[in-house]
Amino acid sequence: MDISPLHRARYAYKPKLPAVLKSGPASIAVELGGATESIADQGALKSLFPSCYGKPVARFVSGTAGSPRGALTVGAILSGGQAPGGHNVVAGLFDGLKAGNPASVLLGFKGGPGGLVDDKVVELDAATIDQYRNTGGFDIIGSGRTKIETPEQFAKSAATARSRKLDAIVVIGGDDSNTNAALLAEYFIKEGVPCSVIGVPKTIDGDLKNDYIEASFGFDTATKTYAELIGNIERDSASARKYWHFIKLMGRSASHIALECALQCRPNVALISEEVEAKGHTLAQVTGTICDSIVARAEAGMNFGVVLIPEGLIEFIPDFKVLISELNDMMAASGEAFKAQKDDESRVAFVQKALAGASATLYASLPVDIKRQLIMDRDPHGNVQVSRIDTEKLLIAMVDKRLASLKSEGAYKGAFSAQAHFFGYEGRCAFPSNFDADYCYALGYSAFVLAANKLSGYLSSIRNLSAPTDSWIAGGVPLTMMMNMERRHGSDKPVIKKALVELDGAPFKAFAAARAAWAAGTHFRFPGAIQYYGPTDVCDRPTETLLLERPPKR
Ligand code: FBP
Repeated sequence: MDISPLHRARYAYKPKLPAVLKSGPASIAVELGGATESIADQGALKSLFPSCYGKPVARFVSGTAGSPRGALTVGAILSGGQAPGGHNVVAGLFDGLKAGNPASVLLGFKGGPGGLVDDKVVELDAATIDQYRNTGGFDIIGSGRTKIETPEQFAKSAATARSRKLDAIVVIGGDDSNTNAALLAEYFIKEGVPCSVIGVPKTIDGDLKNDYIEASFGFDTATKTYAELIGNIERDSASARKYWHFIKLMGRSASHIALECALQCRPNVALISEEVEAKGHTLAQVTGTICDSIVARAEAGMNFGVVLIPEGLIEFIPDFKVLISELNDMMAASGEAFKAQKDDESRVAFVQKALAGASATLYASLPVDIKRQLIMDRDPHGNVQVSRIDTEKLLIAMVDKRLASLKSEGAYKGAFSAQAHFFGYEGRCAFPSNFDADYCYALGYSAFVLAANKLSGYLSSIRNLSAPTDSWIAGGVPLTMMMNMERRHGSDKPVIKKALVELDGAPFKAFAAARAAWAAGTHFRFPGAIQYYGPTDVCDRPTETLLLERPPKR
């Protein structure tokens, strides 16, 4: 394979490990805490997870007893969207397994959870792993979004675990995939399948975090990749002085990515969906926020700027939220009739006819592309595929209209020319930053320690992440501890609670304190490209979000 010089150099990178994992399985002991509770709905979750509910938090400590050293067969699954560092989770798991017992075997299920259901498997040997160390992507085994939910899928998963004699399955995924892991762990215990299920917190979206999970992996690299691009655009914008750049950023529901990029790059406007929802802002008000900055800057002779838009924004605008939920219900209820429509035009007309009241008016007012995008297929977990909705273009159209009316009133005299961008897939498969390379390797190694100690229904956890790697704390958290009950498709379901941006949290407060100055002036900040080699404060610095949420202890 003709690989790039950086690609070759990254093979040689040795991830830095927390001190407790450095001495190997023979001296890693597990310390268990007291019984735990879920964050809410304890009664319901207790009855849904009779075996897994209430398990203790596990912390790894150095001890002479160490971890069991029998040979293990473990299956790895990469689930959902790609996130930088996935390959290092697999590499950390592999190295842990082999350090525990050279006869241990790592299998990879191909194409996500569907690979477990359909028993599509490949053995991962040292030569294969070595080709993927410290690289981006999930291509070592591929990923997928299959949700294991029917009794047949559960039974087939159990059959695979039995026939492959699996001691553990490691599910590397986000909140939905780890909810699935918790259900699978419970099912295996109920059915007497002697196979642990362990999760690893993955998602660039940054929304799988809580007291025990400080960050999901991939968020660090993805936001640094986007911040580099945003910084470059800011400099172009300040040089050419003729464009407003509207940049939509991935992140599905939560605005963590947009907030982190705002803290890194100081754009003129950054919309935060959670704030829009809390304030009950309409689309017209959101448009107004952007126009205020455009008008103020035009008065100072600056007909340029940068706006950041989280991809999930429209789901948080109250009138859109109602519209989307009505569309979901309507598409589900009239399933066959809706599917029978022959093309986009008739589907849009069908939906328009079925809607009523404010939702019908809002839907009718939208550009045709947005109407079409709002009724595209939902993902297997029932989510609207927000990455496919051109919110940035919708906002440009709305802003253009509003500025025209301000101009006619004499309230705006500037020139408005806009460029639309969407940064999402660009950041999901970058070479993991040193932070993600180290974090992921440690998460994979910890997943092995949990498996060796026969712990099931746990999420691999590495804490104290804003400190040097040496002092990171490794262990596992029971998945049920992060769960609550939520309404999904008309019934209450156990789910891992998604972490949205907290408006009283330190990252949002830091942003809110600075944004008025950024809106009127030009305070752009240029983070530059991810650096893999060089000074620690340049190469190993975690995200602003992490530093603000978990300030390093002095
Ligand atoms: P996960 O939650 O699976 O990590 O997905 C992250 C994500 O990149 C979202 O930010 C985005 O909305 C979605 O995946 C896009 O999905 P797809 O890859 O199916 O287009």
